Amino acid sequence: MVKLWIPLTALLLLGCSSSEKEVVTEIIEDSYLELIPAPLEMTQSEDEYFWFYSNTTYTYSQGTEENTYLEDLINYQLDIASNSNVSEVNIKVGETDFLNTSESEEAYEINATVHSLEIIGKTDKGLARAFQTIRQLLPVAFHEGEKRNKWKMPVLSIKDAPAFEHRGMLLDVCRHFFDKEIVKEYIDLLAFYKMNTLHFHLTEDQGWRMPIDKYPLLNEVSSWREDSTGEMYGGFYTKEDLKEIVAYAEERKITVIPEIELPGHSQAALAAYPHLSCTGGPIEVANDWGVFKEIYCAGNDSTFIFLEDVLTEVMEIFPSKYIHIGGDEAPKYRWENCPKSQQRMKEEGLKDEHELQSYFIERIEKFLNENGRELIGWDEILEGGLSPNATVQSWRGFEGGIEAAEAEHRVIMSPTSHCYLDYSLKSIDLEKIYSFDPIPEELDEVYHQYIIGGECNMWTEHVPDKENLDSKVFPRMIGLAEVLWTYDKSREFDVFYNRLQTHYPVLKFWGINYGLETIGANINLEFDHEVSILLESNLDNLSLKYKWGNESDWKDYQEPFSINDGKLMVQAYKNEELYGEPITQSFVKHKALNAGFDYKYKWSDWYAGYETNNLVDGRVGSLDFRDGTWHGYWGTDMISTIDLGQPEYIITVQMNFYQYANSWIFLPEKVRVEYSVDSLSWTVLGEIENEEPDLSNVKSIKEVSLSSDRKLGVQARYIRVTAENIGKVPNGHEAAGSPAWIFIDEIIVR
Ligand code: ACM
Repeated sequence: MVKLWIPLTALLLLGCSSSEKEVVTEIIEDSYLELIPAPLEMTQSEDEYFWFYSNTTYTYSQGTEENTYLEDLINYQLDIASNSNVSEVNIKVGETDFLNTSESEEAYEINATVHSLEIIGKTDKGLARAFQTIRQLLPVAFHEGEKRNKWKMPVLSIKDAPAFEHRGMLLDVCRHFFDKEIVKEYIDLLAFYKMNTLHFHLTEDQGWRMPIDKYPLLNEVSSWREDSTGEMYGGFYTKEDLKEIVAYAEERKITVIPEIELPGHSQAALAAYPHLSCTGGPIEVANDWGVFKEIYCAGNDSTFIFLEDVLTEVMEIFPSKYIHIGGDEAPKYRWENCPKSQQRMKEEGLKDEHELQSYFIERIEKFLNENGRELIGWDEILEGGLSPNATVQSWRGFEGGIEAAEAEHRVIMSPTSHCYLDYSLKSIDLEKIYSFDPIPEELDEVYHQYIIGGECNMWTEHVPDKENLDSKVFPRMIGLAEVLWTYDKSREFDVFYNRLQTHYPVLKFWGINYGLETIGANINLEFDHEVSILLESNLDNLSLKYKWGNESDWKDYQEPFSINDGKLMVQAYKNEELYGEPITQSFVKHKALNAGFDYKYKWSDWYAGYETNNLVDGRVGSLDFRDGTWHGYWGTDMISTIDLGQPEYIITVQMNFYQYANSWIFLPEKVRVEYSVDSLSWTVLGEIENEEPDLSNVKSIKEVSLSSDRKLGVQARYIRVTAENIGKVPNGHEAAGSPAWIFIDEIIVR
């Protein structure tokens, strides 16, 4: 089933006069999308079509909900010309051999002949998925809004069902607000790709987006923050808006799961109702990004009355089985210093603040369960004991999900390693998300059943508008949609990539500002007697140009070239057009390049840079701490030893540390460099202490340089660098008490 998409514009360009244009359009073979997600089974006839006419009949079998979605969609683009041709569409919820064997309520079958189209869903959800398949089977021209006398789809037979029951996307409408129409557009796009859940993140430190009649200040105060220009920024949906969103989703059988964050990420609510906090306030709606220490007071009964009132109104609007209550990133600093919270711990026999958080979540879960709903929480709800029926959404890697599944709790996987759409393409590109497996290898097969699916998470701190949103969500969300639906273990990225290309004209026509699939180039290094740069494009159809140091001209990249100190810029091109921004990388040539590297504590997998030789590879980290060249150490010291292979004279050992309090990254308390010729007896080259931790939210890089005072330097084969972590995020910081990070890159030995 290989079809080529022929760009309409390219063919039209061939024509000059209007009559010629008409002739050209007449002979155009319609172009089609390749189905995404790929169906389980499909057989298709060559050159035979089922036609939709304005007088096509749609029959809904008895007992089948009359969902006219497909009929309305197609009829809207049919000219009402009298048509003597006959065709019929039979729609039913029913049984077939295939549907009987499928466990999914979303399973469906499509059987199209020249005269009839049969659509059978296991349930009305299955029908809704089938409608989207048919939508994708219509020509590109249909999606581009053309009206015709008739529309065709290929004669075929499809049997299809999803691998995972939960296939979602989180949309954060709090950090930046996206209006009702955008939300509906996204629901439509999720439906088009057979995702079935919009995880609607409605409350945050920076904004509360839903009306609660009992607490009007949640809109008057909590929906508004002061932005960086001093203007008030914000907004909220009315209850009518939310009902409209839910109804729009229901028509497409998409579930909207609201998320009401507790006990943390609640500063906006506390700004309006400070008596629910530990201190009584005053508190402002947060106007910066990060994790904040103001959380609901766990010792205060009014907190639970408030939250139950809120959740009651939430449940009135949202019929979803699940309600998401957040539970992530709740610093315990306030509770540790709050008499009421401490009293609650004593009364309930709770041994620490993590158990207090579990108490909090369990109380909320009990309330939701009594109202016939189930709770989802981020993986922090495992700390201090998991509440009885909770579903866990694993985000800090797969570990939380594994632990929850082994405890026989349902799990939604959305690890930062694969599913965070706010992350740059450097860390998560389309191929990476397409390689996502929600079921970790190390999870015993008996627990696989507890992994109900996955989500991609679109946090919007740095996504101020729809254009940005589109560029981050697309095309990566489409990759995840296929993984979660089709879950082909032997899937090949290149095949998916080629199929995806057929979708871009349609997305473009719909006004979706889709982004790139990947960053254009990888900069690889070869260490011989020289250091050479080897550029590699991430996709077959890209070409690369580069510029080194102060050179003013771009050169076509042909083969590896050797370098000294300086900055490299690389620009990728796809079909002669710029493919993204230039990639830049600074290099330093020094004595320890590609030296042996050993460590006492391993860096975090989240900030692994180029793994083992990252600190001696010549690449120097930039002011973007996610640029992929920094090593991050979380809550531990950094103690590493470099082996130069033979004794050498060294004078200076220099390294960079990153400082950014907002992301819990602090300069080390102390840095010590020692050297040795035999790795047995060590001498201190130098030592330096840092003053007070810097709590300002400014990103900076601090260079630490320690030198021998001997002119010729000292003889060393081994160099040991110790950077002592401040341990915990200091008091006065919003996340006080959480483990602090050390970020280091390139240990430069001269
Ligand atoms: C999260 O990203 N804090 C769930």
